[in-house]
Amino acid sequence: MSTPNLKEIHDFLVSLAYKAGDIINNALPDNSGTGSKKNSADLVTEYDRAVENMISTSLKEKYPDYEFHGEETYDPASPITDAPTFVVDPIDGTVNFVHSFPYACVSLGFAISRVPAVGVVYNPFTKTLWSGIRGQGAFRNQETRLPLKGDNVEPLSGLPNALVAIEWGSDRTGPNWETKVRTFEKLGQSKEDGGAMVRSFRSLGSAALNICAVAEGTMDLYWEGGCWAWDVCAAWVILAEAGGIMVDGNPGGWETALDGRRYLAIRGAPEAGQKELVEEFWSYIQGRLEY
Ligand code: IPD
Ligand code: CA
Repeated sequence: MSTPNLKEIHDFLVSLAYKAGDIINNALPDNSGTGSKKNSADLVTEYDRAVENMISTSLKEKYPDYEFHGEETYDPASPITDAPTFVVDPIDGTVNFVHSFPYACVSLGFAISRVPAVGVVYNPFTKTLWSGIRGQGAFRNQETRLPLKGDNVEPLSGLPNALVAIEWGSDRTGPNWETKVRTFEKLGQSKEDGGAMVRSFRSLGSAALNICAVAEGTMDLYWEGGCWAWDVCAAWVILAEAGGIMVDGNPGGWETALDGRRYLAIRGAPEAGQKELVEEFWSYIQGRLEY
């Protein structure tokens, strides 16, 4: 098998992202074609399947030697291997899509040895595309290099000054729910009452869009438990190329696997501030994520 040409793969993924965007933009999301997977907060629509079908057919035709790992055709018996693999979420932010809340995207990643190497994330509602190639930088709309502030990026100065992305997820019971809700409370609470008093929280409703916001530097960090490799693969490259880091969502894990399902993404900044912010964040986690 020849060595993957990352630039060529990137350009092909960009063309697929725009095609997927056309399908999503022309869709009429309503409840008729919508079904739930695990529960009423975990949705899939006919468009999720149509977009994945278009993408997997195109990729298998152009790159028959590479593996394909997509949300809608996921088989738990076939985890991601070390082989070159496309890791794809046809619509990340399906709940937003169903509600016409304009934050959903197609997330197209390519990993080698389970390390993200190419990433393309496209929000067709705002017509914003984020992309990155390992070793070659990350860009918004293919022209603006990330992070947006470039060399003027501010140092990180602790949780009280941080805009923090979180998601409620679709698991609403059990230990992971407890850990998340108790941690959210501690993060938001005043210093006098023992909390971190973060500046505020945001939930874009899409893991990929949250990570791209951290990569841009418009949010400082994103903490997540329960999402999947297809939610993070593409945006992870973009984050790393913008100087950001990804660690485990549980305390102590300075390395986290592509399919580890627990993530803490920190924006680009001088390294010392990143590590300090990770440790400060970990110190407020109540319990452990069990994904
Ligand atoms: C979901 C979104 C959400 C995250 C969930 C994901 P989907 O993906 O990324 O932000 O919190 O864990 O499952 O279902 O919209 O593809
Ligand atoms: Ca999805």
